[in-house]
Amino acid sequence: MGLRGTVSPNLGNLSFLVILNLYNNSFGGHFPKEICWLHRLKVIDFGHNKFIGEIPAPLGNLSQLQYLYLDFNNFSGSIPQSIGNLRQLKILYTSFNQMSGLIPQTISNMSSLVDVQLADNYFSGWIPKEIGYLDKLEYLILANNSFRGSIPSKLLNISSLKRLEVEYNYLSGTIPSDTRYSLPSLENIHFDHNNFVGNIPKSIFNASKLIQFQFSVNEFSGTLPNIPFEDLRNLTHLALSGNHILSNLPKSIGNITTTHFWADSCGIYGNIPLEFGNMSNLISFSLDGNNINGPIPSTFKDLQKLEAFDLSNNGLKGSFIEELCEIKSLVQLTIEYNKISGVLPTYIIEVDFSSNAFIGNLPLEIGNLRAIVLLDLSGNHISSNIPTTIGSLKTLQDLALADNKLNGSIPTSLGDMVSLISLDLSQNMLTGVIPKSLESLLYLQSVNFSYNRLQGEIPDGGPFKNFTAQSFTHNEALCGNSRLHVPQCVKQVKKTSMAKKLLLKCLVPIVVSTILVVALIILLKQKKRKSNESNLERGLSSFGVARRISYYELVQATNGFSESNLLGRGGFGSVYQGKLPDGEMVAVKVIDLQSEEKSRSFDAECNAMRNLRHRNLVKIISSCSNLDFKSLVMEFMSNGSVDKWLYSNNHCLNFLQRLNIMIDVASALEYLHHGSSIPVIHCDLKPTNVLLDENMVAHVSDFGIAKLMDEGQSKTHTQTLATIGYPAPARTNMTDVTASLIKIKTLVLGANGV
Ligand SMILES: *[C@@H]1O[C@H](CO)[C@@H](O)[C@H](O)[C@H]1NC(C)=O
Ligand SMILES: *[C@@H]1O[C@H](CO)[C@@H](O)[C@H](O)[C@H]1NC(C)=O
Ligand SMILES: *[C@@H]1O[C@H](CO)[C@@H](O)[C@H](O)[C@H]1NC(C)=O
Ligand SMILES: *[C@@H]1O[C@H](CO)[C@@H](O)[C@H](O)[C@H]1NC(C)=O
Ligand SMILES: *[C@@H]1O[C@H](CO)[C@@H](O)[C@H](O)[C@H]1NC(C)=O
Ligand SMILES: *[C@@H]1O[C@H](CO)[C@@H](O)[C@H](O)[C@H]1NC(C)=O
Repeated sequence: MGLRGTVSPNLGNLSFLVILNLYNNSFGGHFPKEICWLHRLKVIDFGHNKFIGEIPAPLGNLSQLQYLYLDFNNFSGSIPQSIGNLRQLKILYTSFNQMSGLIPQTISNMSSLVDVQLADNYFSGWIPKEIGYLDKLEYLILANNSFRGSIPSKLLNISSLKRLEVEYNYLSGTIPSDTRYSLPSLENIHFDHNNFVGNIPKSIFNASKLIQFQFSVNEFSGTLPNIPFEDLRNLTHLALSGNHILSNLPKSIGNITTTHFWADSCGIYGNIPLEFGNMSNLISFSLDGNNINGPIPSTFKDLQKLEAFDLSNNGLKGSFIEELCEIKSLVQLTIEYNKISGVLPTYIIEVDFSSNAFIGNLPLEIGNLRAIVLLDLSGNHISSNIPTTIGSLKTLQDLALADNKLNGSIPTSLGDMVSLISLDLSQNMLTGVIPKSLESLLYLQSVNFSYNRLQGEIPDGGPFKNFTAQSFTHNEALCGNSRLHVPQCVKQVKKTSMAKKLLLKCLVPIVVSTILVVALIILLKQKKRKSNESNLERGLSSFGVARRISYYELVQATNGFSESNLLGRGGFGSVYQGKLPDGEMVAVKVIDLQSEEKSRSFDAECNAMRNLRHRNLVKIISSCSNLDFKSLVMEFMSNGSVDKWLYSNNHCLNFLQRLNIMIDVASALEYLHHGSSIPVIHCDLKPTNVLLDENMVAHVSDFGIAKLMDEGQSKTHTQTLATIGYPAPARTNMTDVTASLIKIKTLVLGANGV
């Protein structure tokens, strides 16, 4: 309803009040203690507001209370012990706050509890074993906290349990396995990103209703055949990546109906059984970084719902199954670092086929890959020239064609690939000159022309100012700046007659000055029009030019960080709206330096944003940082967050807008994961962190807990971080955003034999 302000203590006079519903407003201030004496209260819904401070202990007086929603606020402190008196309480939500401390043991008295969601806080300590006595419990969501210790064994004997989600904590130990236990209702079990060891007990799988089974990134050992897949008729998500499951793939997996199968970096060996072609619901399949050999099973072409397919870093042999590319839904196909051979498919979408053994030409149709961001065909046997149509790949950021047998010259049209960041053409047989058109590529950060037969002058403008000799070694006759360890170019001076010289001396100044005057007039006329039109272009080109903005200027811009300029407050600190002296609107994120953690989060954000530039990321204009003040100055997004649009009554998004937002967010993520020089995992993607500019273009923001993935890490983590994780508690529409991620198009064929 968009109500704001604090809640009046006079509410405490409404002694007959049964339901107090303030859901989804902007109420701030502390939890009003006065309501703790409204003995008839059955429902308190403070969800999605801006409340701060602790939950008052007298809350335990509300003996009739059945529903307590405190999620999505800024509550801090711990859950009071007195909560144990709420014996009627069925639902307890505190997800997405800044609460800490232990889960009180008094929880064992709350025998009516059905749904407990405490995710995304700073809770710590053990999961009290008393929770095991709550025999009506259906949902226990503790994800993203700092819980330690093991899973209480009684917890896995609550027969009503439907969802047990404890991912992203520091839990350890083995999973209690007592064959007498059964979990007949269990649907989701998320144990990923903890430190569990030992076998995955068979008894857990005696849950015939299991839908999501996510155990990635733990230290589970044992083998796969141990798992009775054939009983899991409802399974849709099977995530085992990053464990030590040393075995081959049992044929019986082919009988499960899962849509997502992830088992990266598990030490799995042997062949992929033909039976896998029977998993007809499969949407995403990944076995990256195992020791699988043999061919890609021909039956994979039957997987007509497949969207993402990753077999990178294995020992697969045999020829590429071209029919795979005919699967209409397929958007990501990654088989880099295998020994696959065959003819390069002509309908590449976006592929990394590097380091394989593909042969053939680069098809002219390559220009049709309109959304491609990464094209890596290096380390194959491609033997053609580079088609000029490649210039139409305006979205391509990474082009790697190194180590092939490319010949002919480098097309000038490469200068049209305006998004290009990295270009590697080394180790081919290219001839001719390096086109001067490349000087205009604003984002170009690295090039490699080494080991070719190039000649002529190396361009020296634009990004070329920064490139070093290592990018140009071993060519036939390149010349240019001595910095690049090449001989100076010999200018061809033509002998001109005296008459011609005279003519030149007189005519040239006249012609030049006429052109200048005309140009000036045209420029002045256009300037007005342009200043409105080219906002977007300006946005693109001015990025990267870090501006210096002093603390004093920030104080002025935000009226001394006044309350009226406050846009929002979060765990990190506050964001203010400001107006720079030149009239530009900005958002200033002031980091609350109370805790070291937040200071670290600031550094993480700076670090993450430093090298990022994308239309769908919030642009950082500057940062201002000294010992006791840290801030980031960002582009101002006049339409606020997606969260606001999704959850407030006076805003509404139509279907097309939603779709566009999804595409924008997906492009941003695609860029973060694959397009930037170091892959970045945002780790905190949610509607509040997606901001809309005046044209309703979505920009992802808030990189406070982003992770930079270096090479080694990405092998083990990228795939598993892409699991659905836990869906944000019931009422969030995270799926609005995350669903779109699945549609990202990528095709990676590097290092094979195309
Ligand atoms: C498991 O729960 C059932 C009732 O749901 C109970 O009968 C049984 O004793 C419990 N088993 C253990 C080992 O606690
Ligand atoms: C699985 O559950 C069934 C009944 O639902 C029971 O008969 C069987 O013993 C259980 N098996 C295991 C391994 O727990
Ligand atoms: C798959 O299921 C079918 C029918 O239910 C069964 O006959 C077959 O043995 C199963 N295959 C494997 C490998 O478990
Ligand atoms: C599974 O796949 C195998 C080999 O591709 C095939 O022979 C078998 O009939 C399939 N089984 C089912 C149950 O579809
Ligand atoms: C050149 O490199 C330096 C340092 O690596 C960097 O600060 C600068 O922005 C680069 N210049 C261009 C034009 O890329
Ligand atoms: C360019 O490629 C060659 C050969 O692959 C390599 O030795 C060299 O280090 C590369 N240069 C740069 C700047 O990456």
